Amino acid sequence: MLQTTPIAATTQSHVTREISDRLQVALTTHLTQAYSPELSKTLRLFSATEVADLFGTTGQFLRKGHAEGSLPEPEVNKNGRRFYSGTEIKTMRQILEGSSRKPGKYLPGRRDNDRLQVIQLMNFKGGSAKSTSAIHLCHYLALQGYRVLAIDLDPQGSLTGFCGIQPEIEFEGNSIYDALRYEDPAPMPECIRATYFPGLDLSPAQLILSEFETETAVYARKGVPFYNRLANAIETVEADYDVIIIDSPPSLGFLTLAGLFAATSVIVPLTPSMLDVASTQQFLEMTSAYLEEFENSGIPIVHDNFRFLITRDDPSDTPSQQIVSLMRALFQDRVIGATALRSTAIADAAMLKMTMYEVVRSEMTRSTYDRARSSMDAVGHEVSNMIQTAWGR
Ligand SMILES: Nc1ncnc2c1ncn2[C@@H]1O[C@H](COP(=O)(O)OP(=O)(O)OP(=O)(O)O)[C@@H](O)[C@H]1O
Ligand SMILES: [Mg+2]
Repeated sequence: MLQTTPIAATTQSHVTREISDRLQVALTTHLTQAYSPELSKTLRLFSATEVADLFGTTGQFLRKGHAEGSLPEPEVNKNGRRFYSGTEIKTMRQILEGSSRKPGKYLPGRRDNDRLQVIQLMNFKGGSAKSTSAIHLCHYLALQGYRVLAIDLDPQGSLTGFCGIQPEIEFEGNSIYDALRYEDPAPMPECIRATYFPGLDLSPAQLILSEFETETAVYARKGVPFYNRLANAIETVEADYDVIIIDSPPSLGFLTLAGLFAATSVIVPLTPSMLDVASTQQFLEMTSAYLEEFENSGIPIVHDNFRFLITRDDPSDTPSQQIVSLMRALFQDRVIGATALRSTAIADAAMLKMTMYEVVRSEMTRSTYDRARSSMDAVGHEVSNMIQTAWGR
């Protein structure tokens, strides 16, 4: 039952407790109704046109494959129109890669001695679209055929929520905290779960992850290093993935720094406003001080890429465009060419904990969907190129 009478408690601790209790009940009831755990999230089907686009081929090519029997028929065929599940898309990629003359065309992931790519999205400016960008990248890359692991380093658990697990409601099983904690840590493979999105696994976050900050302070006094804990955990699952995407909290604490040490590339999402640029400048000043400390202790951190991603970009807003131009003039190709457009489609999808890859085009204003989707595709495409370049392709 939801309590709706005025809060009667008098001491501040009781008032706060009462507020938190009521919110907890409301969230749990609301979320379990709107989002029953049994009704776990599933991925929609993809039309033949979409799949042909994803593969960089034509509908005719797919039809020919089905007719000749080289490609399995999808389960759903409505009046001659085929619809594919994420798993079917993944299977077709494997088959097509096997017969392709161009290695990597259908499965662009690591080969031979290619190094695992660990991309961290970080900025201590809250709301700079770190989590939104992280989940769109995860979905884009997974749909392209990469084996992706999402690591949620934010105790708020936004990325976890996008992956279909409610961080507000206690969930079963381990989270990334269990791999990082100092006392009796769990092996990393036990802190990872598959998601409903084929090709994407998740190491989720819960509020308890914030304990890592306090525990680190205690263990540092005992001489136990914090910085390599995530990198060491990642090393144990290295072979299973092509790319790891790390979402970070809006702070520059030990969690973000552990991510920075594990990362091979860093993307700083930035909303083009003066306040955000000022805050990002401070963030980078602090970051460089930390990196210097690492270097002075003989622990150099080398990143293949350090790039800005302009988020919530509004080409019709002159002041923000001046900032975008300034950023490009100052940092050239360190600013990703494509931007994540400000779009009600992205915000609306996010309310449902979905990406542009999950929402159905026909359920939105088409032009709004198309603009948002192609902007996210363009960002994903550049990040994919960044990965391929790191592998010397
Ligand atoms: N391209 C976009 N268009 C419109 N709204 C967006 C876009 N990207 C993000 N948003 C909205 O902006 C808000 C902040 O985004 P998000 O949660 O990704 O930021 P964040 O940097 O992860 O925040 P935090 O610092 O709290 O972790 C969300 O409400 C999200 O839906
Ligand atoms: Mg976030």
